[in-house]
Formats: sequence, C-alpha cells, structure tokens
Amino acid sequence: MKAIAVFPETHEVKLIDHEEPEITTPAQVKLRMLEVGVCGTDRKITSFQFGTPPAGSEYLVIGHESLGEVVEVGPEVRDIKPGDLVVTTVRRPCPHEYCRACRMGHQDFCFTGDFTECGIKEAHGFMTEFVVDEGRHMNVVPRELRDVGVLTEPLTVAEKAMAQVWQIQQRLPWIDPNTSAQMRGKGLKAMVLGAGPVGQLGTMVLVAAGFETYIYSRSKVPNPKADLVEAIGATYFSEETTPVEQLAEQVGNIDLVFEAAGASQIAFDVMRVLGTNAIFVFAGVPDHKAPIEVDTALLIRDHVLKNQAVLGSVNADSANFEAAIRDLSVFKQRWPQALRSLITGYYPIEQAPQLLLGSAGGIKNVVTFTSEPLEE
Ligand code: BGC
Ligand code: ZN
Repeated sequence: MKAIAVFPETHEVKLIDHEEPEITTPAQVKLRMLEVGVCGTDRKITSFQFGTPPAGSEYLVIGHESLGEVVEVGPEVRDIKPGDLVVTTVRRPCPHEYCRACRMGHQDFCFTGDFTECGIKEAHGFMTEFVVDEGRHMNVVPRELRDVGVLTEPLTVAEKAMAQVWQIQQRLPWIDPNTSAQMRGKGLKAMVLGAGPVGQLGTMVLVAAGFETYIYSRSKVPNPKADLVEAIGATYFSEETTPVEQLAEQVGNIDLVFEAAGASQIAFDVMRVLGTNAIFVFAGVPDHKAPIEVDTALLIRDHVLKNQAVLGSVNADSANFEAAIRDLSVFKQRWPQALRSLITGYYPIEQAPQLLLGSAGGIKNVVTFTSEPLEE
C-alpha cells in the first residue's frame, strides 16, 4: 500500500510501498485512512530536525493528525464497529514499571522519555492507506464531523492546555470548582500567540469558555487569519503594528496567555506584560535559534509578586481527545463557516512530499485518501 516515508539517513521524503498491516491480536482495529493533517512537527521531521524511525526500520511513515474509517475489528473490541469514524491518539506508553504516568494511561506525562509517538518517534504514523492499532488508542467521531474530524488532534493540544489551566485556576480561593465549562473564562482576558491551526482552535476553545479573547500574531491586517478570529468573536492584533506595551494598555490585565506559535522572542515580550494571578502556557515548539537577551530579574519579580504560573504542555490523553470531539460539535454549530475554513487545502497522497517540503500557505493542509465529495 502507499505510504509517505521519511528516510533520515539519506534525507529523503517520498511515496513508498509499505506492507499493508493486518489484525493480529483480538483487541486491534483496522482503519482505512480518510485524511491526515500536516503540522509544524511534520515539517521539523521532513527537514530532519526531529523524528525517529521504529527500531530496525530505515524509514518512518509520517503523519499523526488523522481521521480514519473502521474496516475491521478484532473479536475483543466492544465500542468500535466497522464504518465508525475514528481519530487515533499519538503517544504510546513507555515500557517501564516505575513510570507512574504511563502505567496509568497518562503517557502524555511520561517522565522516562521512552514513550513512542506515531509518525514522530519510533512508531509508524498514519500517512498511509491502512492502519492497525489497538482500539483503546482510538476515539470515535460522530459522522456529522466527517468534514472537520481531522482537526481533532491539533485541537487536543489546546484541550490539554485548557484542562491544566482550569486545574491551576482553582488555586484562587474564590473559584467555584463546579463552574460550567462555558463560564470558566467569564470576566477574564486571554491572549493567544500565533494564528496557525492550534492558535485558531485554541481561540475557539477560549471564546467558548467565556474568555474575552485576543490573538497576537505577525501578519498585518487585513489578512484571512485575522478575519477568521474576528468571525468567532476574538480581537486580532498584529505584532507589526501594535507593540507589546501598547497591546497591554489596550487589553488590560492579561489573565491567560496561550502560546501556539513557537516564537520565543514574542513569547518573552508578552510575558513582560502578563497580568496578576495569570497563567502563561507554552504549547508551541520553537526552532533552535541563537540565544536572545531577556530581562530575567524583571520576569521573575513579576512571577513572584503577581502570583504568575508558567507551564509547558505537550501531547494529550484520551479525555483531551473526547473533549476535542465534543468541542468540534460545539464549534460546528456555532461557527460552521469559520471551522470549515481552517482546512485550506486537500492534497492526494502522491502530492504529499511537495506539501511536506514546500511552503504551502493557508492554515491546515491535509492529505486526502478519497475523492468522494464531503457531505455538508
Ligand atoms: C503532536 C503531539 C506530540 C508533539 C511532540 C505535536 O505536533 O501534536 O502529539 O506529542 O508534537 O512530538
Ligand atoms: Zn513513561
């Protein structure tokens, strides 16, 4: 079957013939891939800064943002049946008995580093025609989400961040832990850094949680990404025209920052104007660059004197996937146009190498395995 593989030794990215997998244990499920999204991590892999093939293989089948359709299930699989749409999680647990995270099914918090990630680290990914994996790593997506289901995995990045933000937020004595999901951001201001897919999806999560939401990104207005966030009720500021100090003046106390650009300079600039009792979440992974100068004493002073929390967040657990699938339904109801227009390009698998190596614009580009028109 066809697959897109990365060969780190020879620095090649190409369409290959990969052996079609079969179900070999009773808890496995076989999927026909429908769509696989491309993200910054994939670009890091195809530029050979990142990514490791499975032991014994000279190549890695890439792709971790997927939407598949079940074609066959093993005899022990209960909640998944042929015809279901599913999104498969990315990370698999490490083998160590002492890793409490992995042993509890929370490999997104693995502390040994010996986890594997499909399409990224030591496990083949999903940019291929068929995939076999255990049903417990799969999340069923309602049919109505056929057209946007491929956005589930990038949305889980924001969902995991928000789940932690909500836990941290409860350090404030007046916060009611039973506050409904739509009220958690009421009266608070959130700033998203970056207007790519994770920034856009994060903006939707924040607006839906009741935050007054701002997005701070490179491009000047007008631009399509700014139009999109404005369409969902957020306010866009360009780094080019609004310096950080002016941003802070216009917004007021910034209660939450969600960094989804992987841009370190701007992140530390914005950290300078982070508000009191605020939380700053790093979710983007910057490319390695020369060190920059940062006023560390000033930042630490504020972290202490303003009770600020700074955290990093990676990957997602199955609860985050479930939350993402639920939220996609919410977003589809509330902003059908905007959600749909996050997907800006469809490419057949034969064109995936160009997509991965080129500089395709747009927001989320996906490789598609079918030529069926999408239902509305
Ligand atoms: C993926 C995560 C993964 C991370 C680091 C991201 O693009 O969404 O699942 O853990 O890359 O490999
Ligand atoms: Zn582990």
